[in-house]
Amino acid sequence: MAGADAKPDFRCVVCGELFDVEYPGWSQRGGQDRPNAGGLKWVWRERRSTSEDLDRSGVWRFRELLPILEDFSNAVSLREGNTPLYHMTRAAMTLRIDLLFAKHQGMNPTGSFKDTGMTAAMSVAKERGFAWVACASTGNTSAAMAAYAARAGLRSLVLIPEGKIAWGKLSQAMDYGAVTCQLQTDFDGCLSLLSQIVKEAPIYLLNSVNPYRLEGQKTPAFEIAEAFDWSVPDHLIVPGGNLGNSSALGKGFREMYELGLVAKMPKISVIQAAGANPLVRSFREHQAATLEPVIADTRATAIRIGNPASWRKAVRAIQETGGWCLDVTEAEIAIAKAEIGAEGLGCEPASAVTLAGLKKLRAEGKVASGETVVLMLTGHTLKDADYTINFHRGKLLEKDETEGREAEIAGLRRDAVAVEATPAAVLAAMKGNA
Ligand code: F0G
Repeated sequence: MAGADAKPDFRCVVCGELFDVEYPGWSQRGGQDRPNAGGLKWVWRERRSTSEDLDRSGVWRFRELLPILEDFSNAVSLREGNTPLYHMTRAAMTLRIDLLFAKHQGMNPTGSFKDTGMTAAMSVAKERGFAWVACASTGNTSAAMAAYAARAGLRSLVLIPEGKIAWGKLSQAMDYGAVTCQLQTDFDGCLSLLSQIVKEAPIYLLNSVNPYRLEGQKTPAFEIAEAFDWSVPDHLIVPGGNLGNSSALGKGFREMYELGLVAKMPKISVIQAAGANPLVRSFREHQAATLEPVIADTRATAIRIGNPASWRKAVRAIQETGGWCLDVTEAEIAIAKAEIGAEGLGCEPASAVTLAGLKKLRAEGKVASGETVVLMLTGHTLKDADYTINFHRGKLLEKDETEGREAEIAGLRRDAVAVEATPAAVLAAMKGNA
């Protein structure tokens, strides 16, 4: 573990890069510290049916691959993980893909994938005796942090960009008792400010620059492999914001591959919003060797990030698995979100970039019909109800954004209609929408 604890902002003093948690013995076949693949599969499955709190967490169930605590009784858990993998029958049919699934991370305790990372890093904060934890956030990290801090008995500080986070998320930070500061800057500004603050006060930083966050966020990779009986899908499609999640999933699959739990890694593709696409540009213009920050703007506020911290780790995940990095427009995101809703699954806007991206990959022939695809749905649909209501009321997108797609959008809209309180009027409304 390369001195990850040394600096409060988790960056190397020499090169400025982020740390990674490494377990040296795991990649050496026949090495002494190498966990036994068959044994792990057996014990992880057994734990699903026990009543121990730690075993019932979909993160700590995999604790052999999370040796980050001195004592596992320090784990702070809300029974996260073990999220459903849904077959997306409608989208599969439209896209002519036999096996298309959604791994719904919005079904975590605070409604997003952040819980899997937060349980890990908050447990470290508690074990090390911190009184305060903090994060900059577009909303979901702060919701998760506030909840887990409250469970751990720690105080939490949240920095958010004023007016740019969804109400559902802001309400969670308040509900769970965080000190919430709304700043006149964007997410990137909040994170850079917080990196200075943690150098001046004993506050534990819980953004995904914290490598223990990524340790927790790698566990959905284990769940996916387990669900496919240890034969992994061909493609994993992930939204890209600060790029911690794609990095963590890459690490999870890499470790399973090195340990001999799986025979290959899925192609990991990262999808960004066109208005917040620094990684796409980095691939397009600099072969992913450097990244130039952009001023980010998208209605998918969760991924409104122009200077992603973990971009190098995400590049590694994409390049070593042979995946792609591409962007999608605001209209494409809104349409994909409505389609995911119409499957009875629902998700928040940032998650919908995955389906929008898959359509492009499919059209470009990068995903074949016989391949197995998993979309990572990162947040619950109730996180950003305003977005959904505005879409269905026809108030979300500007005219120039919808050009050529008016009919498609009209077919998806389900606005609430004002109806007279009589049976005849309600029955007429049903007929009109049949
Ligand atoms: N999807 C959702 C719903 C998110 O909240 C985020 C990030 C992402 C995707 C992107 O994940 O940053 O790991 O690439 N939300 C962060 C937050 C930044 O503060 O809640 P990433």
